[in-house]
This record gives sequence, structure tokens and C-alpha cells, in this order.
Amino acid sequence: MLKTKLLNYENYDQAIEILRSGGLAAIPTETVYGLAANIFDRKAVSGIFTAKGRPSDNPLIVHISTMSMVSGLVTEITHKAQALADKFWPGPLTVVLPKTDKVNNTVSGGLNTVAIRMPKHKIALDIINKLGIPLAAPSANRSGGPSPTTAKHVYDDLYGRIDAIVDGGPCEFGVESTVISFTDNAAKILRPGAITREMIEEVIGNTEVDKAVYNKLKSGQTAASPGMKYKHYSPKCKVVIVDGRKEQYIEFVNKIGGGNVYAFCCDEDIPFLKIPYISYGGENNLLEQSKNLFDRLRYCDTINAGIVYVRCPKKAGIGFALYNRLLRSAGFEVINLER
Ligand code: TXA
Ligand code: MG
Repeated sequence: MLKTKLLNYENYDQAIEILRSGGLAAIPTETVYGLAANIFDRKAVSGIFTAKGRPSDNPLIVHISTMSMVSGLVTEITHKAQALADKFWPGPLTVVLPKTDKVNNTVSGGLNTVAIRMPKHKIALDIINKLGIPLAAPSANRSGGPSPTTAKHVYDDLYGRIDAIVDGGPCEFGVESTVISFTDNAAKILRPGAITREMIEEVIGNTEVDKAVYNKLKSGQTAASPGMKYKHYSPKCKVVIVDGRKEQYIEFVNKIGGGNVYAFCCDEDIPFLKIPYISYGGENNLLEQSKNLFDRLRYCDTINAGIVYVRCPKKAGIGFALYNRLLRSAGFEVINLER
């Protein structure tokens, strides 16, 4: 067991030394906490997979702090990727581009592409800047579970398995970055996030959303993004999405209640519920919902919830990212009350 150093705004410089010497440090970003290592240090990078229990074919995102860091990592930056980077970096957008040999296969999971993003969090940018080396960083959670949006979440998952945790406060967005790929210059969203399809289309025009974002992959189907084929964002309890109007949701959960069944609801539902509940925010406050989502999913396990019925979020804007994460937490189990 490692002695994990707990750092904060005042002493996070120690994380830079840890990363320089091949260690692993969890750092805050504006989306979720990332578990970082020097991308050129293959041994350190493989330590990320061990600490998380992550399958080795699931590639990592490379985090940069200046545009000049990109050029050595990719063979070309398409016009569309450049336009999006100009508009949304630093910020919650990850672009997938053809990689050079400088990006080793441990980082890319054996693919010939690499995912890159410039995070917006001051601490993340400062650490990468001072180190002068890009950082490979997946979300800093145990593989398969909900992503970490506070330093406490990282502590609960990875204490004793990594060298340091930098506490930079709760994450601004709470869901991971939008991932977009460019095959033959056609843009495709592989994972929705705070940079929405509408925002992307305003910059580069027509953009597809990969079907695996809202449909379960059939067995034998190849995933455009390896992360799509694994169970993800799941607490130990069973999660079921309930899609329908508010009144339908309330009637449904009130009828089903009993045992350790919980309504995973919105604030406005609370006065009408006859069963225990966990709220993930105001029904029209999508940003609040996205900030809270993973924390509340984690909370389900601390109270030993058996099954939670989730009031389906609005699917527009960042709500579409929430819906995608919830679909995966629920193993795509949705009860549709409108039908
Ligand atoms: O917001 C975020 O993106 C956070 C913070 C820490 O930056 N990171 C994050 O990393 O969510 P991770 O590893 O949990 O998710 C990365 C996703 C995975 O689904 C992975 O399969 C996909 O990006 N990915 C990485 N490289 C890829 C590539 N070359 N082609 C397609 N998908 C890729
Ligand atoms: Mg992850």
C-alpha cells in the first residue's frame, strides 16, 4: 500500500515532482478528477491501468496546456479539429486524431489515434505547464464505477493505490468531456458532454452522434470508442431510468415503493413522494444535475440502496450527456411511461 499524499491549492507543486519522477497524481479538472501520469513514461502510464483496474485496451486522454504540445503527438490536425480547439480550449472537449510514434501504445490502447484535450481548471493547467510534459489521465475512479467529482471521491476509490491527490474543490461540470473523432474529416461525437452537439455544429456544421451513445452495442459490434463496450458509471445498486412526465414518474415510484427502493428524483418531486428519495437537483437546472449526478450515484451505495428509479433528465444540452451516463449506469434499462 502506498502512502498517498493529500495536497491542495497551497502545496500542489509537490504533485509536479511526483509526476516528473514517474508517480501517479490525481488532479482536479473542470469535468471530473483525472488520474495523471507523464505520457512518455510507459511504466507510469501502465500504473494508471493497475490502480484503476482498467482494461488495457481502453485508451487514455492526453492532457495538454498549450497548443504547441499537440504538434508532436498527432500526424495532422484536421481543419474541423483546429476550429473546435480554437473555440473550446481550454475546456471540456476531447478530439481524437491520428497519432505519431511519440504516443506509445499503452496510452493509445493499441489504436492508431490519440485523444487530446486542454482542461480549463487552473491547477491542471498550471501543473502541465510547469512540468512541460502532457499528462495521460483517465477519470480517477475505480474502473466501472461512477467518476469522481470531488477529492473525497478519489480518496474513497484510490487511497493507498496512487502517490498523491490534489484537492481543487468540486468539479465545475461533473460529467466528462465531449469526445469527438474525425474520420475522413467527418465529425462524430463518441461521448456527449458539456460542449453539446449544437455548440459543435455552430462551429463546424453537420456532426453525427455515434449510435452507441444511446443504444446498447450488440455483441460482436466494434465500438468506435473502446470505453463504450465496458460497464460504466455503475454503483453497486440497480439503476433503472423512468422516462415520462413528472406526474407519471411520481405515480410510478409511489406504487412500486417498499424495501430499499429509492426515487432518484428532482427537487420538485420531493413533496409528492411516499418513498425514500435521493434528489440530484432542480428539474430545470441541468448544470446542477450534472454536478450532482456521480456524487448521488455514489451516495446510493453508502446507504445500501437496493434499486433506484431515476427520473429521466431532459435530453437537451448537457442533459443529453447526463442521459448517456445514466443509460450506462442502468445497463440501458429504461421504463418508458409515455408508451
Ligand atoms: O473529462 C474528461 O475527459 C476526463 C478528465 C479527467 O479529463 N477524462 C476521462 O477519461 O473521462 P476516461 O479515460 O475516463 O474516458 C476517456 C474516454 C474513454 O471512453 C475512451 O475509450 C475514449 O475516451 N478514448 C480515448 N482515446 C480514444 C481514441 N483514440 N479513440 C476513441 N476513443 C478514445
Ligand atoms: Mg472514466
